[in-house]
Amino acid sequence: MNEVKRDIVSVLDMKDDLEDLIDLSIEMKKNRYKRYAELDNRVLALIFEKPSTRTRVSFETAMDQLGGHSIYLNPNDMQLGRGETISDTAKVLSGFVDAIAYRSFSHSNVEELAKNATIPVINALDDKEHPVQIIADLMTIKEERGRLRGLKMVYVGDGNNMAHSLLLASAIVGINITVSCPHGYEPDDFYVNKAKEIARSSGSQVMVSHTPESDVRDADVIYTDVWTSMGEEAEREKRENDFKEFQVNGKLVSQAKSDFIFLHCLPAHRGLEVTPDVIDGEHSRVFQEAENRLHTEKAVLFKLIAR
Ligand code: CP
Ligand code: NVA
Repeated sequence: MNEVKRDIVSVLDMKDDLEDLIDLSIEMKKNRYKRYAELDNRVLALIFEKPSTRTRVSFETAMDQLGGHSIYLNPNDMQLGRGETISDTAKVLSGFVDAIAYRSFSHSNVEELAKNATIPVINALDDKEHPVQIIADLMTIKEERGRLRGLKMVYVGDGNNMAHSLLLASAIVGINITVSCPHGYEPDDFYVNKAKEIARSSGSQVMVSHTPESDVRDADVIYTDVWTSMGEEAEREKRENDFKEFQVNGKLVSQAKSDFIFLHCLPAHRGLEVTPDVIDGEHSRVFQEAENRLHTEKAVLFKLIAR
């Protein structure tokens, strides 16, 4: 058991060992059915306020394969949904389980849970970040390219939770990152400034731009995400209009390096943020990226709750 509990609420919580986590994930992928005595009987609670396919199934499968267990909790079936506080929930669950993965509408809720729990809390996506997705994204790039430092990644689309986490992670590992987004959809200043600050020591470049055709020129990696994130459904029509010029299609990717790879955290909407020829084409690695969620969740759980 770790002496001091460790949370992963933000990519910043992996600042010192992000590449180690990626390498451990690559190692664990070599033997997916290996059980670890250090995880025997460990229990993970998953509290999910929003739907999930990849995050839920990868965490649950990871716990089973490692030798532990998981409990999926819908807040509506908990007293949390009837007004019990996050802080009391954190203290109660800390007496039962060994870690909590929390998907929330609000970053401050995840921080509140982490602050009051005596066990590790893992952010399973919120409105500001998606830190565990990033490990699988970078793992996929490392598998494909054998390195991260010095590569050029262009994230085309909404300056959302994915953009925030990609900015931080790229700066940490030395990837040059451009977020190419419509005016009015820029990532939060906090994440841009923090990424720039980290990039000063890692030597990478961090840019926010609004010209997709020139932004993706010579990219090693093109990444996109949905235009309308969970919780923003009321803005769907406006967003689909505002993002039209930011679709990742054959014409746009022709500007990238001839061996570029395409990534998307999924779920994807073909015909909106990406066209079928790109997401189902030879450069796409989205299903490898999705599978890597399993291996990276294992690495995270091993680091946080191994005895
Ligand atoms: N990429 C991702 O987090 O997918 P889910 O919403 O299906 O978990
Ligand atoms: N930006 C998306 C990511 C889904 C994995 C959302 O928050 O809905």
